[in-house]
Amino acid sequence: MSAPPVRRSVLGMTAQDSGAVVQLDGVRKEYGETTALDGVSLRIGAGEAVAVMGPSGCGKSTLLNMIAGLDRPTAGSVVVQGENVGELSEKQLALYRRRRIGMIFQFFNLIDDLSALDNVALAAQLTGTPARQARRRALELFEELGIADRRNAYPALLSGGERQRVAVARALMNRPALLLADEPTGALDSRSGEQVMDLLIDLNQIGQTLILVTHDEHLARRCAGRIVEFADGRVTGEHTLEPSA
Ligand SMILES: Nc1ncnc2c1ncn2[C@@H]1O[C@H](COP(=O)(O)OP(=O)(O)OP(=O)(O)O)[C@@H](O)[C@H]1O
Ligand SMILES: [Mg+2]
Repeated sequence: MSAPPVRRSVLGMTAQDSGAVVQLDGVRKEYGETTALDGVSLRIGAGEAVAVMGPSGCGKSTLLNMIAGLDRPTAGSVVVQGENVGELSEKQLALYRRRRIGMIFQFFNLIDDLSALDNVALAAQLTGTPARQARRRALELFEELGIADRRNAYPALLSGGERQRVAVARALMNRPALLLADEPTGALDSRSGEQVMDLLIDLNQIGQTLILVTHDEHLARRCAGRIVEFADGRVTGEHTLEPSA
């Protein structure tokens, strides 16, 4: 097996942590008449890569949003690194999201009128890191992720694959305990999708805990150590995968 190209020093301490990073117990989420999550219990250990799969509308994004602290459960508990996310105040939640969670999305969610580097540096500046230090950290990540030559480009001039690598760099800025990826290859051609997936695999191999939502079973099998099947807001099956050669 060849050595991963991304150095472990880009991550936080998650590789050394042990035990559950995420523990969900009986999580329900209702939006008016719609039950998006219907009693989900799930434990994710430090260093795991878990793929969540299931049909459209079954609650996958809602699950990630609960873990990310973007929304609160109607019932049940979401505990991340010992913190009960549903009980945090708005201010604590904002800090929690910035410090503990890195998120990547299908459509990148970059800010169009900031350069690639500034998009990434901003994530650290929002946690109070001085601008120069934030830019230094951002540049280190650009180098690690192989996009340093694109740092001054604006998102519109980047390819889809480059945009997603910038989004990964942004997600890693604050050394999150958890990287959440919601269909990260959904808007990419198959080659760039594979490259982004290889990057996620590398990051997981150096210790990054990862939760990935994907419709693509091939990618899920390549990337994840465990597949959680979802339907109608519930976990309907789980498979642990053999490590690929
Ligand atoms: N903010 C919201 N307000 C109202 N209903 C919502 C909201 N978010 C999600 N829902 C509903 O909750 C259910 C689960 O949605 P969710 O987006 O989690 O599904 P998903 O599995 O991510 O689907 P997809 O694969 O299409 O992305 C759906 O019925 C959806 O319409
Ligand atoms: Mg979704």
